[in-house]
Amino acid sequence: MTTPDSHQAIRPRRNRKSCAIRTLCRETRLSHESLIYPLFVHEAPRDEEITSMPGCKRWSPDGLLREVAEAHSLGIGAIVLFPAIDKNLKSTNADECHNDDGLIPQTIRAIKNETPDVAVITDVALDPYSSDGHDGLVSENGKILNDETIEVLCKQALCHARAGADIVAPSDMMDGRVGAIRTALDNTGHDETSILSYTAKYASAYYGPFRNALGSTPKIGDKKTYQMDPANAREALREASLDIDEGADMIMVKPAGPYLDVLALVASNVDVPVAAYQVSGEYLMIESAASAGWINREEVIKESLTGIHRAGANAILTYFAKDVAGWLHKD
Ligand code: PBG
Repeated sequence: MTTPDSHQAIRPRRNRKSCAIRTLCRETRLSHESLIYPLFVHEAPRDEEITSMPGCKRWSPDGLLREVAEAHSLGIGAIVLFPAIDKNLKSTNADECHNDDGLIPQTIRAIKNETPDVAVITDVALDPYSSDGHDGLVSENGKILNDETIEVLCKQALCHARAGADIVAPSDMMDGRVGAIRTALDNTGHDETSILSYTAKYASAYYGPFRNALGSTPKIGDKKTYQMDPANAREALREASLDIDEGADMIMVKPAGPYLDVLALVASNVDVPVAAYQVSGEYLMIESAASAGWINREEVIKESLTGIHRAGANAILTYFAKDVAGWLHKD
């Protein structure tokens, strides 16, 4: 019996009754336009499968250019480059990171030549070049040297800017590096080079597969004296206000999926664009569950990225970028 009290006037399900209505009511739309595609490159004639990240490759210089062109044709407008550096070129002072004839500057020039419209983002940190596997210089007693590291990071950022990088992205978490890099760029006529700061980068176990891909696992110790404590959210706001004051054009939260609360907090408190990085461990967990047949790969990937977008990311770095762009064109 229907009484006035039990009359159900408000029925949220009406907004879900058909695909057309659900589409109209949708609050967030995933788009290929907000995807950034991270790519690994090595100085070798062949592309190589990455064992720790099935489906990802260390691209040869030529293979990388083809992959960038393919991603571009699917509507992906930005890539970020990570170099797998020959062991013989790694050193304690990581000098190779600012060699103008090194792998990254060569790759930037080649991409800018072939696909000039693609925004090239470079990672600024010492770990791929450091025989210690740390993002900063290591002192004899095992400490990470903040200010000495910044001098090298500035050289690295300038080297990338000279080669034509659109955006440099310091991922090292040293204090004061954004301001120092901004000044170094401005003093050398690179005031148009943007800075995307890894602002809230956590000391995360989810980076394991990436470190295997680059052979950059720290030889001694961990990264907890510079990357953030996973237990902290408010501290991300402190890092964000420092980076923005120092001149960051965009900031990043990383990892993404396990840190959606941090992403939402940061995004609602800053006035610069916010990126989020779905890192290698997040990639691998989805990829391995899907390859075992335990989850629906396409649906889970899209849902994971929708969640990151909904939490407030303007841009998302994801190893799934090309797949997703393909699916979104089909949808
Ligand atoms: C290095 C860097 C790391 C990642 C991006 N830049 C690893 C680390 O800090 O140890 C991780 C990316 C990923 O796991 O996908 N500064």
